[in-house]
Amino acid sequence: MAGTLRLLFSLTGILLAYAVYILGPPLQRSLTVLGVFRREPLSTLSAEEIIVIQDTTHCEDLHYYAPSNTLFAACEDNPNTRFGWFPPLATFDDPELGRRGRGSIHVIDPKTMKSQRLAFENFDTTFVTHGIDVIADPEQENAVYIFAINHLPDGTLPKARSQIEVFHHVLGSPSIRHIRSVWHPLIRTPNDVYASSPTSVYATNDHRYREGLLRTVEDVYSGAKWTDTVLLTIDLSVTTDSAAGVVGSVALKNMHNNNGLGHGRSPNEILIASAAGGVLSFGEILPNGSITVVDSLQAESVIDNPSYFADGAMGVSGFVLPGVARGVDLEHTKRDPDATNSVMVWFAWEQEAPLPHWGQRLLFEDDGSKIRSASAAVLVPVESGGVALGEDKKAWLFVTGFQSANMIAAKVDL
Ligand SMILES: *[C@@H]1O[C@H](CO)[C@@H](O)[C@H](O)[C@H]1NC(C)=O
Repeated sequence: MAGTLRLLFSLTGILLAYAVYILGPPLQRSLTVLGVFRREPLSTLSAEEIIVIQDTTHCEDLHYYAPSNTLFAACEDNPNTRFGWFPPLATFDDPELGRRGRGSIHVIDPKTMKSQRLAFENFDTTFVTHGIDVIADPEQENAVYIFAINHLPDGTLPKARSQIEVFHHVLGSPSIRHIRSVWHPLIRTPNDVYASSPTSVYATNDHRYREGLLRTVEDVYSGAKWTDTVLLTIDLSVTTDSAAGVVGSVALKNMHNNNGLGHGRSPNEILIASAAGGVLSFGEILPNGSITVVDSLQAESVIDNPSYFADGAMGVSGFVLPGVARGVDLEHTKRDPDATNSVMVWFAWEQEAPLPHWGQRLLFEDDGSKIRSASAAVLVPVESGGVALGEDKKAWLFVTGFQSANMIAAKVDL
């Protein structure tokens, strides 16, 4: 009996040691990235150095469209909705509040630092905003297609029936036209979109589980590579039913918490951020539409929507990676309108030497008092912004947050 017990104990010990050996490094990395050991960062800039852009409440995603020198954002507008209904944070408390959500697409002029809500031409229904993409209309000069995630409440399980809205906008006009809604069973927990053409759109599913213990495992364990990025091929002439004229396929599987997407250095580069893992994957879109990851970098914090910045005149290029400094706090701050979530915005660039391959530095950080919960950040060349700075290697940094009262802009050194 004693012998059997001893054997059992030593077997348990071996199994435990094996589990720690296997789980240890990714678990430790996750805890570091989630900021468990991180003190609240201080603010790098004073309030005087920051421009607050009015009427930009809870804008999760932000894109810079260089041809028109315009920023586009998807904003919740109503300051209450996000604290009662936001499936990406597993907040399902008030579906009725969600149903009444009427978010909008904003255009922001970096010269005036003013935001304008685009008026919908034919879209007066629930719009719970999240990730967007903006691409040129290849058939109409001066126009863009805008793709946007919409987290519709569903009266029954599985609680949310998230879909993608397709819009068309003539640059400079005050309105935006809804073309169609897109739903497919592969779109389960969508976070962001990336359009490679007006009819080919990638969407990340950020989790496999909508809530519960296994979702928490996905959040804290970077080895939980349980989700995917899907490709939707859309017939834009079909407008009757969101599921009609949509073909879906899995473009990239076995990903951990894949989240924000961004356009990269070439038309077939797709940037995919693993939020909780703090990993930026550099994907290549293959001729058949599948994605293969060709490189990656490890950031020190959670990262959300990535963007690429290149300024030939300054000779600077790199990736802007925003995130919350202490992702670990989100679970208990997500319903609190008064909480602050400190933020970090990283700049990463490819370098020949010294190793490692990716240089990284902190571009901006804030204690959460000026900007809460950074989820997207873009750089805009100074000559495109409001003030001629006459200084080398500076750019305007725009930062927005999924729970920030307003977007901000500040000039930063590159
Ligand atoms: C796409 O092409 C790649 C590379 O040839 C291949 O590995 C992958 O299986 C293909 N995907 C599909 C869905 O056919």
